[in-house]
Parts: sequence; C-alpha cells; structure tokens
Amino acid sequence: MKHTYDLIIVGGGIIGSSVAYQQSKLGKKVLIIDKNASGSEASRAAAGMLGAQAEIDENDAMLKLALKSRKMFPALISELEELTGIDTGFINKGMLKVAQSDEEVPFLKKQVQYHAEWDHEVKWLNADELFQLEPALSDDLSGGMFIPNDGQVMAPQLSQAFLQGAKAKGAEILEYCEVEGLLLSESRVTGVRTSQGTIQSENVVIATGAWAGKLMERAGIAIDTIPVKGECFSVVPIRQIIQSTIFSENGCYIVPKKDGRLIVGATTYLNSFDKSVSLHGLSGLFEKAISLIPDIKHARWEKAWAGIRPQTGDGLPYIGPLPGYHGLFIAAGHYRNGILLSPVTGKMVSDMIDNKVTKEERPLYETFKIDRKTITAVKEGYR
Ligand code: FAD
Ligand code: GLY
Repeated sequence: MKHTYDLIIVGGGIIGSSVAYQQSKLGKKVLIIDKNASGSEASRAAAGMLGAQAEIDENDAMLKLALKSRKMFPALISELEELTGIDTGFINKGMLKVAQSDEEVPFLKKQVQYHAEWDHEVKWLNADELFQLEPALSDDLSGGMFIPNDGQVMAPQLSQAFLQGAKAKGAEILEYCEVEGLLLSESRVTGVRTSQGTIQSENVVIATGAWAGKLMERAGIAIDTIPVKGECFSVVPIRQIIQSTIFSENGCYIVPKKDGRLIVGATTYLNSFDKSVSLHGLSGLFEKAISLIPDIKHARWEKAWAGIRPQTGDGLPYIGPLPGYHGLFIAAGHYRNGILLSPVTGKMVSDMIDNKVTKEERPLYETFKIDRKTITAVKEGYR
C-alpha cells in the first residue's frame, strides 16, 4: 500500500465505489477504505429497483437527477460487465405502481398524467388490463401506473462491479480499517487518520452512507445523516410468476430478479442502526406481499436481511465539496435511491474533483450542495 494518493474514498459501498471507478478510469491513484468488507452495508441490502418514476413523485431536482442517472445505466452496465465479468442482473421490464383500493386511484392517476406529459410510455392500466399484463396479481387491485422505463439491477453485484472495475483500473482497497478522523491543515484536507495509521491524499471523499454524520462529527463538522433500517426477504417461486416489479403505496414491493428469485421489501424504522430482522417486520411484509400476489405463499423461502438506509434532514443526498475545506467532498445520504443514483453520483463527484462540471449541470447540482444546511466550524489539525 502506498501512503500518498490522489484520492482517498472513505466507504466502499456503491456510492464510494462508483466515485472510485470514475476517478480510476482517469488514471488517478485511488484508495478505498472501508471499516468492514466493501459493499456489505446498505448497498448489499437493497432490492435494486431503479424506480425514478415509481419512487420519486415530484418533478423536482431529485427526479431530474434520478432520470439522468437512469439514462446512464445501459452503457455503464455493458462497460462494467465487460471489464469485470460480473453479471449485474440489469433488466428493463418496467414497474407497476398499483392501487389497492379505489381511494388510491385519483392520486396514482394524477401521477400518470404528470409523468405522461414528458414520457408517453407511462400509462394508467385498469384492473382488467393490469391482470392481463400480470396474471399472478390479486384480482382485488383497482388498477395501476405502468412505468416501462424503471428497470432494476442486483444491487450487491452492481456494487461489486463498481469496486472490481475500479480495482481493474488500478484502485487499491483497504478493508476492515476504520477512518477515525480527517487530517486538515489550513482549511485543506491532507489525508485521513485510520485504525491502522495515517494516510495522505490531497482529496478525500466521504461516502460512508448512514455513518457520514458520525464520522464528520468526530472531525467537528455537523452534517445530518439519519439511519433508517429496512428489512427484506427473498423467495424462489416454482416458476416465474411476474415480469414487472410490483410497487405498492402500502410499503411493499416485489422485485423479480434475473436469477428467478423474488425480493420483497421493505420495512422502515427511523433512527435505527440495528440490523436484526424481526418477526413483526417480516409478518407484515408477508401479509402485504400475499395481498399483491396471492401465489407468492407457495414460493420456497430463501432468506431475510436488514440494511441501514442513509437519510438526511431534508431527504436529499449531500453531493459536493465541503465549503472551506479544499479537497474534501461528501457523497452520502442517498436514502431509498442510492442504487439508482450511483452512476450519476460517481460522475458528478469525479467531475467536481477535476472542475469539469458544465454550466448546464451546475443549477441542478446546486440543490445537493453540502452548505444548504448550517455547517459547524472545524478546528485545524489532527482529528
Ligand atoms: P453503504 O452501502 O451503507 O456504504 C457505506 C460504507 O461506509 C459501508 O460499507 C461502511 O462499512 C463504510 N463506513 C462507514 N463508516 C466508516 C468509517 N468511519 N471508516 C471506513 N468505512 C466506513 N436504493 C435503490 O436505489 N433502489 C432500491 O431498490 C433500494 N432498496 C433498498 C432496500 C433496503 C432494505 C435498503 C436498506 C436500502 C435500499 N436502497 C435502495 C437504498 C440504497 O441501498 C442506499 O441508498 C445505498 O446503498 C447507499 O450507498 P452508500 O454507499 O452511500 O452506503
Ligand atoms: N427503495 C426501496 C427501499 O428503500 O426500501
């Protein structure tokens, strides 16, 4: 391991690995540091939906960023799969956001209307049309929004593909090493202090997901990241029973993966770093999943797990330089959409490091800047 790098990335989840991939491709000397095995936290727990239109309701900056990211998938996936040999499970069979009662119909129809203004493929399906498209769905549904362009990936595999892609381009990976503080000198970052000693670099990206607030606090800088636990389970049906991802407002989604499994998620517990799985959480998910696809109860059980989503105070990720600290960047707080937003975040941060953000991109990126919240002053020196 060298002791001086062009860039240190703290956190080897999908966000840190995506930044690492972009910078390594440019020939930079990159080191990724993770306190665990890389990609073993939220990025491993995710269901892998690329739900730009299903999960983001408003046509605001977040939707624009999500659509920009979704568009990057096909080319990036080919590039990564060819480079690493990892099958990321990318499929584009659309999502169905379904109404489970007549009361949900007006809200969903409004969403259809609003998305259809610029995406003519989005449409409303009544109960019969829904049933024709996906015969395994419950006949109690009241219709749904068909979103053909929201695809999906196998999240752990995509996270590994970014990481291995970065490695293939020369990045180094240091695992089971905790970053305990930042090295700062006259408002410039000079490296990190870790459980294995100090490492120098002129640029540092904090991509520690739900743990970003904790790490920055140690450096005397306040950013609000809120851990939000989510539980999921997977089953294997005897034969493929659905093609599209089914997404319901009742807090349940069912994602048919390329390898034949169905991933069912997810619960939501605010302020929890606890990754245990409860029977209470699972039984709620079972009930909701069966109300969407009755036949799912015959599928073979595989496993259950939990992960910690990185939420922020205002619900938007922090992506950008930390004002006042030259060379220090944050890319954290992607909450429910970190897999979807991983391509654009990697490119954004990489362009920010190299001052390559275009005039056209600047207004959109401003929304996610770090100093939209009060940042506490930091003292110089070792932290
Ligand atoms: P993480 O993957 O959590 O990585 C952060 C890394 O930082 C970890 O590996 C950790 O070990 C490391 N770290 C922390 N502190 C330190 C330190 N001090 N020193 C060194 N290393 C450190 N998103 C979607 O787009 N689609 C979905 O369908 C989807 N489904 C989800 C379902 C569930 C149940 C959950 C929990 C999340 C889901 N998400 C989904 C959200 C997505 O998983 C996250 O937004 C994304 O994984 C965040 O990636 P990350 O790299 O920022 O964080
Ligand atoms: N995006 C799905 C989840 O966070 O559960």
